[in-house]
Order: sequence, then structure tokens, then C-alpha cells
Amino acid sequence: MDMTTGNLPTEAWIESHCQSPPGTSRDRSGRRPGGNDLARSFHWRDAFHIGHSGIDQEHRRFFEQLANAAQFIDDPRRIERLFLDLFQELLRHLADEERVMDEVEFTGLAQHRLSHNVVAEQAKAALTIGCDGEWATALRLLGASVLEHVTEEDFKLRPLFGHTHSLGGTPSR
Ligand SMILES: [Fe+2]
Ligand SMILES: [Fe+2]
Repeated sequence: MDMTTGNLPTEAWIESHCQSPPGTSRDRSGRRPGGNDLARSFHWRDAFHIGHSGIDQEHRRFFEQLANAAQFIDDPRRIERLFLDLFQELLRHLADEERVMDEVEFTGLAQHRLSHNVVAEQAKAALTIGCDGEWATALRLLGASVLEHVTEEDFKLRPLFGHTHSLGGTPSR
């Protein structure tokens, strides 16, 4: 399945790959982390803004969805659906962002696209881990991957939008 051309994992794919029996959810460590603690770790901060309101809004919404999904890590059917929604949201966002970069003639667009492909592949890997019943780990990996991309790659767009703020702290992961 090529995740970089907009092909999404379908519910049929989930059904044939996800083996989590109802009511089970565990972390790699064997712990069952509280959904609320996990949700808090996805708290979005204005310090992550790049200065383009549309992109900033999409970033914020993605992390709000992550935090919401974290409440359902013990509900396999629901978390599978929510993870697919996150995946869809992510691919839409990457395409929107590339459109904006194209409009402002960002010279780093080709390299940024490659980085988006990596993020999409990491999301797919996280989904596979979730399908093994480790949804907390899957969400953490997805959040870490996107946040790292935002702060290391999307931040390169800041000068184009006149953003002068520094990161101002350590991202919460
Ligand atoms: Fe982004
Ligand atoms: Fe990006």
C-alpha cells in the first residue's frame, strides 16, 4: 500500500490486519497507561505556530484529535476508527501544506515533500502497532512523529510568514 499518494488504509484493511480482541489494549511495556495522561501529552501550544493561520489551525486540530483519540485506547473498535480519521486528517494536512508552499514559492518544497512522505510512512507503521493492540504506543509514535516534523521542518516556513517567535520551551511529547 502506497501511503504517499493519498491511498488510505480502508476499513477492510483494518479488519484483515487488526487483531485486537474487544476490551484489550496494552502498551509495549505491558502497562495500561491512563487515557487522560496520554491526552495531556498531546497538548498543543502556541509556541508551535509557524505564522500561517490555516496551517496553524490544522496543526492544532490534529493534536486535539490525537488527545480525543487517547480517551479511547481501551475501546478497540472506536480507536481504530479514530486512528483512521487521524490518518486521513494528516494526509489532507500534508497536501494543504504543500499547496501553500507552492503558492508562496517556497524553495524547499521538494525536500519538504520527501519529509512528508516519511511522516506518512511513520503513521502507517504506527497504525500497524495499533492493530497489534498497542494503541497507546501507536498514538504516542504518531504524535511524536508529527510534532518533530512541525518543529524541525515546518518551522523552516516561519520566515515566509513573518513569524519571529522562538520555540520557547520543550515540546510536550
Ligand atoms: Fe504541517
Ligand atoms: Fe510539513
